[in-house]
Amino acid sequence: DPAQPRASRQRFVIDFSQCLFEFVVQLLPTVEELAVKEDVRKLLERLIRTIEPDSRLLSFGSTANGFSLRNSDMDLCCLIDSEERLAATDLVTMLGDLLERETKFHVKPLPHARIPIVKLSLDPSLALPLGIACDIGFENRLALENTRLLYCYAMIDPARVRTLVLFRESVIDHISDLLTPLHPPNQSRCGASEGTVFSCFLISAVTCPHSHPLCPRKINSPYKGTLSSYGYVLLVIYFLVHVKNPPVLPNLQQMPPMRPISHVRTISSRLSWLFAYMHAQDDTHIGGHNTWFFDDVELLRQRWQSANTDSVGQLLIDFFKYFSRDFLYNTGVASIRAGLLKKDSKGWQNDLDPARYKDARERNRFCIEDPFETDFNVARCVTRDGLYTIRGEFMRASRILSTRPERAIYAVAQLCE
Ligand code: CTP
Ligand code: MG
Repeated sequence: DPAQPRASRQRFVIDFSQCLFEFVVQLLPTVEELAVKEDVRKLLERLIRTIEPDSRLLSFGSTANGFSLRNSDMDLCCLIDSEERLAATDLVTMLGDLLERETKFHVKPLPHARIPIVKLSLDPSLALPLGIACDIGFENRLALENTRLLYCYAMIDPARVRTLVLFRESVIDHISDLLTPLHPPNQSRCGASEGTVFSCFLISAVTCPHSHPLCPRKINSPYKGTLSSYGYVLLVIYFLVHVKNPPVLPNLQQMPPMRPISHVRTISSRLSWLFAYMHAQDDTHIGGHNTWFFDDVELLRQRWQSANTDSVGQLLIDFFKYFSRDFLYNTGVASIRAGLLKKDSKGWQNDLDPARYKDARERNRFCIEDPFETDFNVARCVTRDGLYTIRGEFMRASRILSTRPERAIYAVAQLCE
């Protein structure tokens, strides 16, 4: 029966999608974890106000953008509303001293970093079995805005968008281990070498996705030449807005004007500050960058209906296929604002005189345009080897999903258990 393979393929995609949902739900942070983090934010804000009375401490990054996994790091940004304020370097030093005196955090002030920050961490305890890691930066208003942009994208179609991003984020590093377990789970050990297998994946994805010391993230460490989480989220959104046809998401930075139905926004109270912050901003420019985007999520949820009905499993399969085979790494720039751009047109070409432009070339192997800071390549940290590794993982995932689908189901089902 010629229809047989097609039917079984469709069944696979449905089962696979179901597995993905069930798996990702388990990775979401618990209510308790979010409450503890909010308490930490308030405590730190209170302390900072003893130095700068007119300051606010806001959460950004994954804790605030809807793409947070259990035990994600906290990214905090301090905004100071007065004209006369301390320089960031002084503030970092003073805050470091204060936190060291007044709290149990391990404190590491980095006043002379490119972006001065204070790094904090808390050892695991009964209440917080995995501890907390947190960075405090200053006046990073663009990061607050791009967090709000990602949050809006996540909220338009949470079931598909969040599942895709979160599954990819937690699994991608280990996808090959996941899909081709070398040993049964109970025999495998988490080694520091190539042999990272099933239990390593379980440890790092389920219990401590970001920080297991024995399980280095192969493709999610910008310091080692691969891509930041922020970069991966942008890739997923780019794929859903510009690659999929019909698109799964609208382009929020190029929306035709829609009249708001009402001024009352029904949004989760946990994130209401983000919108309060936005309303306080009249101008849609920050440091010369246009940060406008359509942000009335309620209106969008009422009016935007994607014509694309692909399941999340199908989207994930297509995502891997696109980024292993079709994306033009040598000449293309992925831009969620404007679609596929050319490196040439942005001055990010990578084939200039190697002697003179070695640095420029190294920085532009893989190009992802920041949504607001459009002259910034979010993937500039990706090295030649890093890109090779990233594409290798995409290819492996893509190959396994198309040739040995039962393996994928088996592996994700195991994880759910
Ligand atoms: N950011 C940015 N430009 C970059 C990298 C990061 O503006 N080149 C900002 C973004 O606002 C991003 C935040 O810093 O949301 C945190 O970045 P990152 O830690 O990469 O992403 P998270 O979503 O916080 O992921 P994780 O849970 O892995 O920390
Ligand atoms: Mg973060």
